[in-house]
Amino acid sequence: MQLLDIRNLTIELKTADSVIRAVDRINLSLKEGEVHALVGESGSGKSLIAKAIVGALNNRWTVTADRMHWQGVDLMRLSPEKRRKIVSKDIAMIYQEPSLCLDPTANIEDQIAESIPDEFLKDVSIFSRRSARKHRVIALLHKVGIRDHEKVMSSYPHELSEGICQKVMIAMAIARNPKLLIADEPTTALETTTRAQVFRLLKSLNQLKNMSVLMISHELEEIADWSHTMHVLYCGQMVEAGPTASLFNLPLHPYTQALVKSMPDFEQGITHKEALYALKGTIPPLAHLPIGCRLGPRCPQAQKACVVTPIVERSHGHAYACHFPLIKGK
Ligand SMILES: Nc1ncnc2c1ncn2[C@@H]1O[C@H](COP(=O)(O)OP(=O)(O)OP(=O)(O)O)[C@@H](O)[C@H]1O
Ligand code: SF4
Ligand SMILES: [Mg+2]
Repeated sequence: MQLLDIRNLTIELKTADSVIRAVDRINLSLKEGEVHALVGESGSGKSLIAKAIVGALNNRWTVTADRMHWQGVDLMRLSPEKRRKIVSKDIAMIYQEPSLCLDPTANIEDQIAESIPDEFLKDVSIFSRRSARKHRVIALLHKVGIRDHEKVMSSYPHELSEGICQKVMIAMAIARNPKLLIADEPTTALETTTRAQVFRLLKSLNQLKNMSVLMISHELEEIADWSHTMHVLYCGQMVEAGPTASLFNLPLHPYTQALVKSMPDFEQGITHKEALYALKGTIPPLAHLPIGCRLGPRCPQAQKACVVTPIVERSHGHAYACHFPLIKGK
């Protein structure tokens, strides 16, 4: 079943003398049980898209879309209150910096307990609710791999490591049994072992609970083997999208190819620290975007025609935006 179906999502920021288009006509769809990866360099618009889906952008931003359907209901056409109700019931988001998102003044038990909806306890007698809620908090902590629940429950966020805080955020996110979990770079601040644990946890939530995941990362290798579909962004535009395995084996867009080539080859024993193939240069600031294809100044395949913005085309089951795809014969 189709859960999310977004057409032409555009996110703009008004500045004193211009309008900056940070996300430009993105299409994105996601089915029940699907893990969809959203990848791209820092500044490509990944977090803006995630925040637009959950309605968390402040009013400095203008968000438009031809449609943003959640299970067939257009979120863009709902009142803020109705939208919040649907989103908080069905969609949960975990953020990159958990210690900033947790309440510093409340202990972990209270924070997780608050995320458990009252209706989950409606069959429990009023006298037993408190202990039933506590049992759920403990079960959630165990689910995210925290065994030492007593100590963690009585702690405040500043007393815990980033890794534990991240797991607490995940516990809070899954407390409602959301249909979709949006994970915005959930492991960036974590050390390797905890990263692997968090990924294993997200993977098992997907496989055992059929929870869909929109996984945001700029590190391809982390999500390469467990996302079904992938969306590659550059400077707020979709450059290529399609089934993950196919994007890896047959990238059509020069940027996707560069990302794939920049991945460490574990079989060959290449580590992160060695020089890796990548495109020269850096992503341009939004206020100084090049004309036409935004990758132009960094693209090894660029030609004169690239001063015209490429339209989205389809081939080999991918959608891509490039005048000169790497594989011809659409
Ligand atoms: N509050 C803001 N004010 C001005 N520009 C912003 C703001 N937030 C984001 N941007 C700009 O919007 C663009 C997209 O930002 P976004 O945070 O979505 O990128 P991202 O892909 O999530 O990057 P990262 O991998 O670093 O998290 C960037 O160019 C960023 O500078
Ligand atoms: S349109 Fe041109 S500049 Fe853009 S990615 Fe394709 S070849 Fe490179
Ligand atoms: Mg981000």
